[in-house]
Amino acid sequence: MFGVRSQETVGARRPASDELRDAVSRLRWYHKMDIGGVRTPGVSDTRRALPRLHLPDSLEGKSVLDVGAWDGFYSFEAARRGARRVLATDSFAWDGSSWGSQEGFLLARKALGLETAVEARTIDVLDLGPETLGETFDVTLLLGVLYHLRDPVTALERVASVTRELLVLETETALGWLATPAARVYPAAELNHDDTNYFSFNQSALEGLLRHVGFPAVSVVYRTPLSRRLARTTWLGVRGEPLRSAFRSARIVLHARRSPAPDIDPGALP
Ligand SMILES: C[S@@+](CC[C@H](N)C(=O)[O-])C[C@H]1O[C@@H](n2cnc3c(N)ncnc32)[C@H](O)[C@@H]1O
Repeated sequence: MFGVRSQETVGARRPASDELRDAVSRLRWYHKMDIGGVRTPGVSDTRRALPRLHLPDSLEGKSVLDVGAWDGFYSFEAARRGARRVLATDSFAWDGSSWGSQEGFLLARKALGLETAVEARTIDVLDLGPETLGETFDVTLLLGVLYHLRDPVTALERVASVTRELLVLETETALGWLATPAARVYPAAELNHDDTNYFSFNQSALEGLLRHVGFPAVSVVYRTPLSRRLARTTWLGVRGEPLRSAFRSARIVLHARRSPAPDIDPGALP
């Protein structure tokens, strides 16, 4: 792909050392990714998730903000695709509020030789703004974060306030069979057994909210296909999970732009 340096290329320049392998094994990881020839044992398979985002092949000359970056895979990917500036931000996973930490991000960034290319800042999504960051960004990534937020509408407004061109939103979606914009609420730990998950929205609600915060051109670039939802429901059923909510649960990726861009057909996507 144009402008993309592969993980293998980056890793090849920095051979795995026993020291790196040991350091990786001492940490708890969220992202599975290759750093300097070592694969981190995370829970999120980035090889599978990355193509679903349909990031521009080249981010040459662009500035990119990664909100909720955790171990930083997508920030590093933005740098690989040529972004001139990348800022990775997080709060919950980096500030000691959860089992996560910033250590994986710092180790991976060093192993990949991206210390000057990717800056990090601990900041809550609700505190984002041109006034707090002192800048705005061409591209903003909000991946796997929205359902964690108690105030998702304000969060979208804050993210929009620092986005000049494109917001890539990846999130959980539910109630897709309802044409009316709707939100599902998770008062306890109904979504993935995680009591820090609060809301998911159906596609109509997400499109409407993105337009509401200032993106007139919204397109869906990925939705979990029916075949995958069926396979996942079967697998969760074997483990005794409630089948109906497992089947209705799906992921969605939207591109929200300040101006129109060519449509992508979600049916043709992996
Ligand atoms: C499911 S992980 C997703 C990580 C990464 N973006 C990805 O897609 O692989 C959710 C991330 O959102 C972050 N997060 C949760 N609440 C946040 C908040 N209020 N402000 C900033 N980040 C937050 C968490 O710390 C965590 O890193």
